[in-house]
Amino acid sequence: MDRQTTVIAVGNQKGGVGKTTNTVHLARALVERGHRVLIIDLDMNHGATRHFGIVPEAFLGSYEMLLGEEPAESLVLGHGDEDVSLPEGLFLIPAARKLEGIDQALASKSKFLSPGEVLKEPLNALRGKFDVIFLDTAPNATTPTIASYLAADQFLLSAMPDPFAIAGLNDALADIGDAQRRGNPQLRLLGVVLSGVDKRTALAQSLTDFVEQSFALEGVSLKFRTTIGRSTVIPQTQKAGRTLFETHPDHKVTHEYRALAEELEQRLGLHEPVLAEVAHG
Ligand SMILES: Nc1ncnc2c1ncn2[C@@H]1O[C@H](COP(=O)(O)OP(=O)(O)OP(=O)(O)O)[C@@H](O)[C@H]1O
Ligand SMILES: [Mg+2]
Repeated sequence: MDRQTTVIAVGNQKGGVGKTTNTVHLARALVERGHRVLIIDLDMNHGATRHFGIVPEAFLGSYEMLLGEEPAESLVLGHGDEDVSLPEGLFLIPAARKLEGIDQALASKSKFLSPGEVLKEPLNALRGKFDVIFLDTAPNATTPTIASYLAADQFLLSAMPDPFAIAGLNDALADIGDAQRRGNPQLRLLGVVLSGVDKRTALAQSLTDFVEQSFALEGVSLKFRTTIGRSTVIPQTQKAGRTLFETHPDHKVTHEYRALAEELEQRLGLHEPVLAEVAHG
């Protein structure tokens, strides 16, 4: 039976604010809860691809998908594929550096192609096959980022408790409104994730409170209750090409991602699968 697929774009046009880390760990946590999850890496710096220790040049990926050169399904990497160490239930369409040339490549394909629309067709082909599809975007308004705003069902904002990252949230909110008016009226703001929070400092606390109070819809805060603490285990696990669920399954931050995934599941109204298809751990 086809699955009801939710496409979640993860963004903030500030760089280095936890988008990729949150995408990878939320996806992994949802897999632990029994969901089938795909990450599409749409950043030419291919952070999500690197996070899983995958050599980007070794595979075709989002570049070919956006150009329509390969059917989207054939680009999906999964557990058991050669030279890939993805956990079971977690799938990836990798990115590579050549994404920086996507605009030229699209322009030479057809004069009439509208670059902002290039994700819709591939996503339609992937819908029904996953419970959640995450789009990990670049920290600037590249064509794949714009296409994500125009094709996603939900937008998840990432920020760290730093004034610039929080200022970036306002820009992202304006962009979401713009995308709703210009072709994606269905787009919803799923919420704001704060990560890299040093819970001991007063500045982090006051910025967390600020986000809690400033980003609200009809009196309900858009900030997820669970915040992700700052810890050196994150860069360590990234270097190892794994997620915390593999390298530090009982770490405090790993548990925070589990709690965040549960909140996300509730906000999306996702049903817990009747039969968990993936064993825990
Ligand atoms: N909770 C955390 N604790 C400590 N460091 C973190 C945490 N989350 C992310 N980082 C670190 O912060 C940096 C930026 O994280 P990440 O790559 O996820 O951000 P990004 O928004 O995807 O960046 P970019 O805009 O470059 O794609 C990385 O070096 C990562 O290791
Ligand atoms: Mg990133």
